[in-house]
Amino acid sequence: MDSNISKCFLGIVAAVIVWTSSQVALAQEWEVITGGELEYQNHCAVCHGVDGKGHGIMTKFLTISPSDLTQIAKRNAGRFSFWQVYRVIDGREEVRGHGTRKMPIWGARFQAEAKGSDPGSQSQAAGRILGLVFYLQHIQE
Ligand code: HEC
Repeated sequence: MDSNISKCFLGIVAAVIVWTSSQVALAQEWEVITGGELEYQNHCAVCHGVDGKGHGIMTKFLTISPSDLTQIAKRNAGRFSFWQVYRVIDGREEVRGHGTRKMPIWGARFQAEAKGSDPGSQSQAAGRILGLVFYLQHIQE
């Protein structure tokens, strides 16, 4: 009887530990995604729109329409290519095969804002881009 009670107690403790650690993981995911959303609203919404659908207020001044960023996966057979999107934002991946690039190069700008080309500034810039990619992954339809 006693041992059953203690087994039951251990079971509850284990369940609580599993539950709290999954809550912590979720909270951390949210931290990254909302950080990315903040960056997005500050830097990207003017062109890509507050909802990512490509209807930002600057659209009328652009010769190429900003992409609908909620459809990246859909346009790619349902697959969100995390690192390709990263490189597009960073600026090392051409968005189109030809022509001039209309999409600003954020890698260089974030690094300039971090005031350096040392590893610390580089990882600060990379972190901001990563947050953006996680946010975009989150808004795929
Ligand atoms: C000055 C307007 C402008 C701003 C600001 C801007 N973009 Fe873009 N973006 C574009 C245009 C235009 C395209 C279409 C591709 C091209 O350049 O030919 C594009 C394309 C993209 C693509 C490629 C989509 C695809 O389907 O492959 C991604 C990803 C993207 N932008 C993300 C971002 C993010 C993240 C930000 C903010 C950090 C941002 N953009 C800010 C104009 C902008």
